[in-house]
Amino acid sequence: MHQLIAVLDFGSQYTQVIARRIREASVYSRIYPYHTPAKQLREDGVIGVILSGGPSSVFHPKAPLPDQGIFGLGVPVLGICYGLQLMGRMLGGEVARSERREYGHGNLEVLGKNPLFKGLPRRLRVWNSHGDRLVRLPEGFAAGARTDNSEFACIVDAERRFYGLQFHPEVHHTQNGQQILNNFLRGICGCRGDWSMSDFVEESLRNIREKVGDRRVILGLSGGVDSSVAAVLLHRALGDRLTCIFVDNGLLRKGEREQVIELFGNHFHLNLKVIRAGKRFLDVLKGVTDPERKRKLIGRVFIEVFQDSLRQVGHADFLAQGTLYPDVIESVAIDGNPAALIKSHHNVGGLPKGMKFKLLEPLRELFKDEVRALGSELGLPKEVVWRQPFPGPGLGVRVLGEITPGRLKILREADAVFQEEMLRSGFYYKVWQSFAVLLPVRTVGVMGDERTYEFVIALRVVESADAMTADWVRLPYDLLQTVSSRIINEVKGVNRVVLDISSKPPSTIEWE
Ligand code: XMP
Repeated sequence: MHQLIAVLDFGSQYTQVIARRIREASVYSRIYPYHTPAKQLREDGVIGVILSGGPSSVFHPKAPLPDQGIFGLGVPVLGICYGLQLMGRMLGGEVARSERREYGHGNLEVLGKNPLFKGLPRRLRVWNSHGDRLVRLPEGFAAGARTDNSEFACIVDAERRFYGLQFHPEVHHTQNGQQILNNFLRGICGCRGDWSMSDFVEESLRNIREKVGDRRVILGLSGGVDSSVAAVLLHRALGDRLTCIFVDNGLLRKGEREQVIELFGNHFHLNLKVIRAGKRFLDVLKGVTDPERKRKLIGRVFIEVFQDSLRQVGHADFLAQGTLYPDVIESVAIDGNPAALIKSHHNVGGLPKGMKFKLLEPLRELFKDEVRALGSELGLPKEVVWRQPFPGPGLGVRVLGEITPGRLKILREADAVFQEEMLRSGFYYKVWQSFAVLLPVRTVGVMGDERTYEFVIALRVVESADAMTADWVRLPYDLLQTVSSRIINEVKGVNRVVLDISSKPPSTIEWE
């Protein structure tokens, strides 16, 4: 039985980040709704409670309040931001409405002896985002730290082991934030820190089985990191009750369909349905040159093909998706609407009438790096776990202008040569993305004694942290030279290779 930390969720966008920091400390945690009865937490055996932040004000008539009984459990409690204000108010202190919101960096000064800051500098840069603030301490508490704006940036009742932080230790902008949380978990709650990714797998398998029972699940497998990890995890939980649908839209890279069949069908023995729909996509795309129109058509045909395949694979109750936590925040931030939690390119809004699915999102609480760790734990090979991102419309946005089978073939071959050299040189795993683009112009060349008039291939290689901004990678000239001469020599139809040296912004990573 693992030691359990309860995170009571008051609606902060950082609640999942707190959970993630707890996992980073190798401690097991569970996120509970804020109103969970203390009795339930006692039955679950929690050894510490964290009250998350939240958008509400304690003065709001409908302010979310926890069960007062949590303060009688005899376990340490840490209130963060709104959590501190709640704790202060519920235990007899006074909170004042603030005219001015304290937002952004603050300089924290630690006061007295304070186990939360054990081993840390006495002055730290911390990150704030709050309106109201505590102005009078509840009985038994002392000030544990202050900032310029807040006398009670940290409050401490060492005897009852109640702590509050006005700032957010879970975000990166807070210096030593992870250590502050570690001090709470290890030093104050007595966590051993023996929880690992394999425990996460066990927990996930249990949850999936509990939720799905003996019903059936369908997953759209793209071969990217997220859907691959979701597929293998769900398969381990459900076996043949999972059906994966892989759509070959005719815009895949060289050998991609074969690799998916080999890995997921032959190696992992997934119940895999491969839909070869290349012709259907290419027919619709014939003569289309406008990038947005291409994207829209590819998206539309994908939904149609996927719907048809759903009819073929028979009844299922759940549709699984590899949604990650950052996708969830992004969607919330954009729409502010919980019903719109699914990103548009994952959209299931267009399902056939009468087909009602429940959504299953086993990776929903995880961040990208955690999904990769999970993939490795599940035995997925490095090539999949560390795969570069690939756009949904595939080579459709990399054959510029009109997409024809001939042009696709040229791009596929050129791209395969490029990836082979990127892998061989070790650069593939060091960059964010590296790919070839086919330009729909012909230029003059000379080969042997012959004049040639053929296509141009552009090489795009970028480094990036999140695809929002990117810079072009200065690959060694020798490597570029090898790639260029191999493409020109080996790929029929190309007589010139150029390098894209634009950053994002103002360019984008893809060319269309
Ligand atoms: P851009 O070209 O906008 O691309 O700088 C940013 C990142 O997103 C990828 N990308 C897509 N991913 N569906 C996807 O799933 C798409 O339609 C799509 N378009 C671009 C792109 O490869 C880069 O990583």
